Amino acid sequence: MLSLESVTDLESVRRFDERVRAVLGGKRPRYVIEPKFDGISLEVVYRDGLLLSASTRGDGDRGEGVTENVKTIRSVPLRLYGDAPPRLLAVRGEAFMRLADFRALNARLEREGRPVFANPRNAAAGSIRQLDPRITAGRRLDVFFYDILSMDGGPRIADDVSLLRALTRWGLHASPHARECSTIDEIARYHHELAEKRDTLGYEIDGIVIKVADLAARKRLQTTSRHPRWAIAFKFKPSEEETTIENIVVQVGRTGVLTPVAILRPVEIGGVMVTRATLHNRQEIARKDLRIGDTVRVIRAGDVIPDIVERTIRSGARRQRPFIMPARCPVCRAAVEHEGPFDRCPNGLACPAQLKRSIGHFGSRDALDIRGLGPETVDALVSKGLVRSVADLFTLTARDLVKLEGFADVSAVRLLKAIDKARRVPLWRFLNAMGIPGVGVSTARDLAEHFGTLDRVQSADERTLMGVPDIGPTMAREVASFFRRPVSRRIIDLCRRRGVQAIGSNVRRRGPLAGKTVVFTGGLDWMTREAAEARARAAGARTVRSVGSGTDLVVAGRDPGLKYDRARALGIRVIDERQFQHLIGTSQRSQR
Ligand code: IVH
Repeated sequence: MLSLESVTDLESVRRFDERVRAVLGGKRPRYVIEPKFDGISLEVVYRDGLLLSASTRGDGDRGEGVTENVKTIRSVPLRLYGDAPPRLLAVRGEAFMRLADFRALNARLEREGRPVFANPRNAAAGSIRQLDPRITAGRRLDVFFYDILSMDGGPRIADDVSLLRALTRWGLHASPHARECSTIDEIARYHHELAEKRDTLGYEIDGIVIKVADLAARKRLQTTSRHPRWAIAFKFKPSEEETTIENIVVQVGRTGVLTPVAILRPVEIGGVMVTRATLHNRQEIARKDLRIGDTVRVIRAGDVIPDIVERTIRSGARRQRPFIMPARCPVCRAAVEHEGPFDRCPNGLACPAQLKRSIGHFGSRDALDIRGLGPETVDALVSKGLVRSVADLFTLTARDLVKLEGFADVSAVRLLKAIDKARRVPLWRFLNAMGIPGVGVSTARDLAEHFGTLDRVQSADERTLMGVPDIGPTMAREVASFFRRPVSRRIIDLCRRRGVQAIGSNVRRRGPLAGKTVVFTGGLDWMTREAAEARARAAGARTVRSVGSGTDLVVAGRDPGLKYDRARALGIRVIDERQFQHLIGTSQRSQR
């Protein structure tokens, strides 16, 4: 198996393009660009549509047979789709492990007291080379295919775009991010775009691959002893840097958990300026032995919040004393309680930090969506004693607001209007706004849908709550005990008396999509997105704009984006526009 020449600057990509043009007679070639997956290279052979063999790179000359293991990978079909598969088809792709699966695997290994994998690539490699296919089967792997190595008796394929399409038709997953382009500018933009999206893909990529699209041109360009001349890898700058911990501060979250945060000497990582990193909790600080003044390696991958990988040891350097978590809440001075590795301020809404966070959450986009209630405003409202619980938001007057620093008449009126508008609020938003431990948007929606009114949710006991799909015993206990607590009851009561109406949806939904939560992504050919959503709702579905664990179905049109990836990562059913039409039973007439 060959490998790719790899570069990290645009200048080298330009030179590659010039070399290609020199061989092809100066004409602007078209390129296909796609992510460079950070996994392990895999070759799979199908005979008469049936999976015959699979091998990895091995030592580069001789592959390593991993057929039985690859047969356990769900996204690799045992039999190609379609009725006329090629007599012989050898395809190449990259096997990888999604970050979520990697984390779950490591957590399990750790529980079992076995060594963990350093990164998803090692985990994928280790899993695919298992001697026992049953072990591979238990470790979710995935594959993106990107090339046909040889084919006998298949369709005529002239370029990479039709190649990727053919793969998809046979049921072999290709990257949804592959794109065609012809200028260096487009390549640069794509590289930048993916570098930004990188942390949200759910799997690791380490750059982009640029390939000449035309397959005949690839033949003419040929291959050196190690690299094809028709492709090049344009890697990302490493997303890991070294810096120093300048200080450690402690933040109090909405639920009272104290999180130590490292204030870092600002450092650019993968194009983003990083100044802070979470230190998680007391145990993590001790495990990594991190202190103020230490030099550390900071990584930005998978998660939005940067993380400190480890301390880089400078021999002989004098270090500061170990950092000790405070015994009292840094905001309200209440004595901190320990819960496993966590420290928690037990003071609840009597702690200004928790109160501020709760109010912020109450007005946030997926809750009451109160525009103009930003962190500074919340801060001022609480500090001035104008708001002591979320219910107090509904007693604010213009006279109160103009007393706040930086609040002009106009913004006061605007905020009051927004608060007033929020009085009539869909039940799920109100439930989400309450900040019940463990209840996010999707559970809030489930509760709202199931019970229909706030009264019914409030008075449901644990057993009744467990009747809601997706609500288990722990969640049921949290919800029931939240509504039993006198403070919660008082606040809800006050909100009601101050004009808040949580509006449930009592309509019983019917139709082929009854009770399903549906998300659309990508361009549709036969109707506009809005029309399609309306159709879905008419068929009984609830339509939302983002994919989450509460999503039942994703309709993917042309060039689907991150939502498609996320759906795949979560194992959600994905259908195309034609299947959607079929499902809701309409004819394919233009709706544009
Ligand atoms: S095309 C070399 N496309 O990167 C033959 N390779 O260092 C043409 N890789 O061994 C390869 N993602 O395992 C291609 N989208 C992608 C890729 C990709 C990852 C791997 C592949 C190859 C290595 C080269």
